Amino acid sequence: MLLGTQRISAKGHLEIGGCDAVELARRFGTPLYVMDEAAIRQRCREFRRAFETRHPDSAVAFAAKAFLTLAMCRIADQEGLWMDAASSGEMRAAVTAGFPAEKLYLHGNYKKEEELSSALEIGVGFIVVDSEWELEVLKRAASRLKKKARILIRVTPGVESHTHTYIETGQIDNKFGLPVATGQALRAVRAALAMPEIELVGLHCHIGSQVFVLKPFETATQIMVSLAARIRDELGFTLREINMGGGLGVRYRSSDSPPSPDEYAEAIISTARDAGSRHNFAMPRLVVEPGRAIVGEAGTTLYSVGVVKPIPGARTYVSVDGGMSDNPRPALYQAVYEAIVANKADRKPSERVTIAGRHCESDILIDGIELPRIEPGDILAVQTTGAYNFTMASNYNRFPRPAVVLVADGRADIIVERQTEEDLLRGEIIPERLA
Ligand code: LLP
Repeated sequence: MLLGTQRISAKGHLEIGGCDAVELARRFGTPLYVMDEAAIRQRCREFRRAFETRHPDSAVAFAAKAFLTLAMCRIADQEGLWMDAASSGEMRAAVTAGFPAEKLYLHGNYKKEEELSSALEIGVGFIVVDSEWELEVLKRAASRLKKKARILIRVTPGVESHTHTYIETGQIDNKFGLPVATGQALRAVRAALAMPEIELVGLHCHIGSQVFVLKPFETATQIMVSLAARIRDELGFTLREINMGGGLGVRYRSSDSPPSPDEYAEAIISTARDAGSRHNFAMPRLVVEPGRAIVGEAGTTLYSVGVVKPIPGARTYVSVDGGMSDNPRPALYQAVYEAIVANKADRKPSERVTIAGRHCESDILIDGIELPRIEPGDILAVQTTGAYNFTMASNYNRFPRPAVVLVADGRADIIVERQTEEDLLRGEIIPERLA
């Protein structure tokens, strides 16, 4: 499969954003994260258009955790997106890049008091409150800083999103949010309304990630609108916003066919309209927070191929110069990837191999893939690595984190420098008694 601006050049090389991938690997080294700027911008626009044409009072917030760099914050801002931050570190990166604080949502099941205070000081748009305890902490911080905190309350609608259990978050038994079914959501709303330091604006939910079916989004939307109507009826207060979180899936394999942003927007907006008219509840502002669906397919990781080791009767292991440190997703979620041999992109597959990383355990990146005959020195391009790869990278085995380049129209700019082994030693101290 070819994604975004990927194509095969006359030389038979993979090209991304008009740049020869083999040349990128030579110039910047490997492993290398390559982000396709045009593909990111196109997804931002597709999402905005899908929602705004159906409901002008809607907004798309980029879930920064999927891929957060200063350059990405600039792109999100230029494309008119809002942004979801999950920590003070993410907030700080956004603000450092000049992203408007008032367009930030702050998330988290346990936000520390310092984090809440700094959110109030920075002037973030909305704090998404996750518990009654947090309401109390926030009230205290707001009163100390003499600020009013604008909040949404995160609720769990109790729907299953049929994704990997580690990233399924909409059901009641979950550390995030307050269940609607147990009455805790309503109780938190009541508590928030009684606090003069708090301005309650709306409700939030996030049912899960890498979701391929629209039904759970529809069910969750219905539950959210019904809850808003119930709050109006029982507490006499009309909420202005419903935020449905993120979760739309992307293509990791040629056989994957996730819904388009248009289909996703249609499911959410039309369900909200229907539920609204049933409850005579005027359409509130509707917000979604896609992360993976904005950046996932726009990312490719380039590796150099080293050892090719056939084990008769078993399989052929192809070791590349990265692994679970730059992409922990296969190990964590049994995630499946496809790849192209960048310098043989025009050749037909001829053998089945297993792509292994270089870490001190089995570290399998792709467990079985048909590729053209592969040799040491080839450049392997693993696709759809734009989301939750760079941001979840580790330094296991003291592997320096790869560089990130942003490509567009034949230009390639480093947006995050490659770490060095010296970088990894910074901050370490040998106590005197061990000297
Ligand atoms: N909003 C909230 C409150 C979230 O918790 C998340 C993701 C999103 C939005 C964005 O979801 P997305 O559109 O990207 O699916 N590390 C895992 C994914 C964890 C997702 C956590 N929350 C992975 O690599 O699959």
